[in-house]
Amino acid sequence: MRVRAASVHPDVWHVVSGRPYVLRLMGAGFSKPKNPIPGTDMAGIVESVGGSVTRFRPGDPVFGETVVTFQWVNGGAFAEYVSVHHELLARKPDNITFEQAASVPTSGFIALLNLRGLNQLRPGQKVLINGGGGGVGSLALQITKAHGAHVTAVDSTSKLDMLRSLGADEVIDYTREDFTRRGVRYDLIFDVPGNHPFSACRRALTPDGRYVLIGHEHFGASGKRVFGLVPYFLSLMVLSRFVKQLRGPGLPMPTKKDAMAVLRNLLEVGKITPIIDSTYHLSDVREAFRHMIEDELHGKVILTVVDAV
Ligand SMILES: NC(=O)c1ccc[n+]([C@@H]2O[C@H](COP(=O)([O-])OP(=O)(O)OC[C@H]3O[C@@H](n4cnc5c(N)ncnc54)[C@H](OP(=O)(O)O)[C@@H]3O)[C@@H](O)[C@H]2O)c1
Repeated sequence: MRVRAASVHPDVWHVVSGRPYVLRLMGAGFSKPKNPIPGTDMAGIVESVGGSVTRFRPGDPVFGETVVTFQWVNGGAFAEYVSVHHELLARKPDNITFEQAASVPTSGFIALLNLRGLNQLRPGQKVLINGGGGGVGSLALQITKAHGAHVTAVDSTSKLDMLRSLGADEVIDYTREDFTRRGVRYDLIFDVPGNHPFSACRRALTPDGRYVLIGHEHFGASGKRVFGLVPYFLSLMVLSRFVKQLRGPGLPMPTKKDAMAVLRNLLEVGKITPIIDSTYHLSDVREAFRHMIEDELHGKVILTVVDAV
């Protein structure tokens, strides 16, 4: 693949910083990253294909993830060229830019993975997306909206207009209001920051509702350097034996090929609009990281590889 654009997102930070340390035992590399080149998703042009590949030809515009397994490894996308398994790719829809396409694969896969059972969602059911203005949340917002849900999105003051433009029926400013104390109950809470304990979120769930935690380390600000959120996830797994609101839909994980096909279709028909905060040249990757970690974002941070065009 000749890379045109790649996205900078929190999972890239996890591998580059090596935090929380437990992730180093999960394949990222113990004393340093196994693969020195970061980046897990990108959009670009097929340069050449292996002998058995029939889905794509040189010159095809495509987008996708560069890692076959989970996101906590360096995938080599921050480069001019990267080798990618063809099943991780889909043809880029004509109605979006390479930058927009590069912003979707990793966040979109995390969203779809955690929205399994979406077809069980009935039109008009109430969904709350906590952290709806971020990479994963903004896609979860649009995907659940596309399934007919009534979506409430929670994020900071300056992102509320963006949330409305993405289709949120209601917005909540987390700096002013605590969604767990509004007296409103939701059928699904999709929680990216995980800033409320489950006991509080449960107050805002219907008896048959479901709680899905995505989890965010806030670039080390959570202070959990060694195990990160892993102990909290494990405690929720144990609790799920007794609390049905924590149980998954019992469906297999989607393959990345299937997820890319779903995302491509939603992009092509305009049900997902990726929002770009800013673009940096590949050589300014350090500044792109600083911006993601320190500033308030309104969309994704993208690296472009202009020289390769
Ligand atoms: N569970 C899984 O399957 C899985 C798999 C892989 C990765 N992950 C994790 O998923 C996360 C993905 O995050 P992302 O890309 O969506 O991050 P992101 O782009 O940083 O978005 C997080 C959003 O949450 C907002 N937020 C922060 N504090 C909040 C609060 N108290 N209440 C409501 N919203 C708040 C942020 O706004 P501000 O600007 O105000 O901070 C931001 O808009 C990563 O941390 C990654 O490690 C999960």
